Amino acid sequence: MSAAAAEVLKQHLIDPEVCIRCNTCEETCPVGAITHDSNNYVVDASKCNFCMDCISPCPTGSIDNWRVVKSAWGIDEQFGWSELPVQEAIAPAATGGQLEAIDVEAQALIAEAQNGAGGRAVAASSAAKPSVNLFNRDRPAMAIVAGNFCLTDESADNDVRHIILDFGDTRFPVLEGQSVGIVMAGLDGNGAPHPIRLYSVASPRHGERPNTNNIALTVKRDGPGLCSNYLCDLKKGDRVAVTGPFGATFLMPNDSSANIIMICTGTGSAPFRGFTEWRRRMMPEAQGRMLLFFGARRPEELPYFGPLQKVPETLLGKYFAYSRIAGERKIYVQDRMREQSPLLAGLLKSGATHIYVCGLKGMEQGVDAALDDICRGEGMAWRELRESMRNEGRYHVETY
Ligand code: A2P
Repeated sequence: MSAAAAEVLKQHLIDPEVCIRCNTCEETCPVGAITHDSNNYVVDASKCNFCMDCISPCPTGSIDNWRVVKSAWGIDEQFGWSELPVQEAIAPAATGGQLEAIDVEAQALIAEAQNGAGGRAVAASSAAKPSVNLFNRDRPAMAIVAGNFCLTDESADNDVRHIILDFGDTRFPVLEGQSVGIVMAGLDGNGAPHPIRLYSVASPRHGERPNTNNIALTVKRDGPGLCSNYLCDLKKGDRVAVTGPFGATFLMPNDSSANIIMICTGTGSAPFRGFTEWRRRMMPEAQGRMLLFFGARRPEELPYFGPLQKVPETLLGKYFAYSRIAGERKIYVQDRMREQSPLLAGLLKSGATHIYVCGLKGMEQGVDAALDDICRGEGMAWRELRESMRNEGRYHVETY
């Protein structure tokens, strides 16, 4: 260890403004350095060994934050944060000699820390500035259920619901693509509070109808899942405790010339309903194209199937992929994308094109391989393009 490294410490931190509390980092960390409370996910500096295993699985890049400090922030301090502390200048030494050399190394460490480890996600440059972390478990926003509608057919294997939560007089600002946390009342079998579950907002920023103070969620009843059953069973008029909003990168460009390619399965469609509605209401004549690749078992299982039929193709190009239609071959979103190679390759050549992937984790690899093939067919290098799109806030993946 150099003299400078002994004086200062590079500390791994999670940005509470960007984190969507998906638990991926905590599940990934091989040394148990990541933990959470009802407010934040944090890194215990006494355990983190800088293995970087958590960096690439993080869907938002919130994990890729670093500060150079003289003594590490404790986890209790981090639990209380609503934003990361600024990088403090490491005070230059008053006199020359060895201390000055230490300062030079410290500055180099700060510069390195500010670059992150490579997983950092950024929002589209024209995206609106989100509000984050306004409500937590100790101080949730109370919403009233304004509606709970089944989105899937009676014959479907899945029960997927559209749940509208009204905030009354409470200001709960969201942008399309953000998530909220649901706090279930009561304690679990071990006497601990139930973990907060996250759901993407499925409505546009100004509500289900323009200028209503509500949000919609798309929730799939998940067998034994306590929270999904709690939400799916809610009745009109019930009160629900909500935290958030969370997420500052999976946000749509506000630029009407932006092309938006949305790829999803099942309830991963939630943010894209918000994106589509916002564009339909605010810029129906947008010159930028919007495409939706949407995978489900059958049409009867595809959330918003009916309403989607009514969205004109000029506003939204729709490509449905069904995997379980009796007597037909299994089709996944990545197959539909390959069928649209010329269209997608054309769009990928434009710096105004944004890609969003949301839904099953398993889809991520297949979609990536499809984009690789589509690019190769046109003499483009997908890996390099993906890197620059990511850096420019034009490539976003949120899978679970
Ligand atoms: P499958 O029928 O093979 O499970 P679900 O209804 O379970 O939420 O799934 C949504 C859709 O995502 C289903 O059509 C499912 O197909 C599909 N799917 C499953 N795995 C993948 C994958 N690796 N890539 C793309 N789509 C997938």
